[in-house]
Amino acid sequence: MLSKLSEARDFLLSHCPDFPKIVVVMGSGMGSVLSGIAVEKEILFKDIPHVPPVSVEGHTGKIRVGMLGKHRVAVCQGRLHFYEGLSLSTVVLPFRAMAMAGAETFILTNAAGGIHPDWPPSSLMLIRDHLCLMGSNPLIGPNLAELGPRFPDMTEVYSEPLRSIFRSAAKRLAIPLYEGVYVAIHGPSYETPAEIRMYRLLGGDAVGMSTAPEAIALRHMGKRVVGISCITNLAAGVGSGTLNHSEVLDSAEQAHGRLNALLTEVIGRMGELHG
Ligand code: HPA
Repeated sequence: MLSKLSEARDFLLSHCPDFPKIVVVMGSGMGSVLSGIAVEKEILFKDIPHVPPVSVEGHTGKIRVGMLGKHRVAVCQGRLHFYEGLSLSTVVLPFRAMAMAGAETFILTNAAGGIHPDWPPSSLMLIRDHLCLMGSNPLIGPNLAELGPRFPDMTEVYSEPLRSIFRSAAKRLAIPLYEGVYVAIHGPSYETPAEIRMYRLLGGDAVGMSTAPEAIALRHMGKRVVGISCITNLAAGVGSGTLNHSEVLDSAEQAHGRLNALLTEVIGRMGELHG
């Protein structure tokens, strides 16, 4: 695995020798957020060694590197998912490779179903913590000691200093920002109402099919992680209707302006962390 990761890292560095320190990962339907960056380079996921093609509608599968204000960023449009039939170590491979190439801070976004009845569709939730109920873990297998320890601490997966920047940026922009626990499930079926009731009892606030594996793998490497969910729909049984992917994409689209403004403001303040 380490040799695959090194090849993927070398490929990224051959296209982008000074890989950005900040990576933003866009969830379903959010591909056009931060499309205003001054793009220097585009790297297709499928060209990165050992990365299979992204197969989900709403995900284009590329990394766009460029300037956002005074910071260079890598914006990932799309990611890989467990439900595509990939191992979690494959799902996290591009992110580990970016971290090995020099990225230090990862802003992970996703589309999620809202477990709270009073959080309206297209609202934004800062991820305080997660419940990874995928039944697997990206670190299963021999530990890659070059990357991190066998039993990495997960007490603060989502960086409190970064969350605090998000909170104050949202306040300044008057963007409502909830904060809660993201439940990661494997999918691809949406949940049943009974499952959602169980997740609520367990302390979940939003549910989705991504983010936790990347966050675990990146924390293993000691990288800084923060997560934002776009609550695209009320989870099954919370509202009255049924769920479908096009509603998820439409609703994520409606959050586009707010998410774009929030990320731009937060990244503008990243100097507070990166100098
Ligand atoms: N459940 C799981 N994943 C999701 C949902 C949902 O309701 N909405 C968007 N992604």
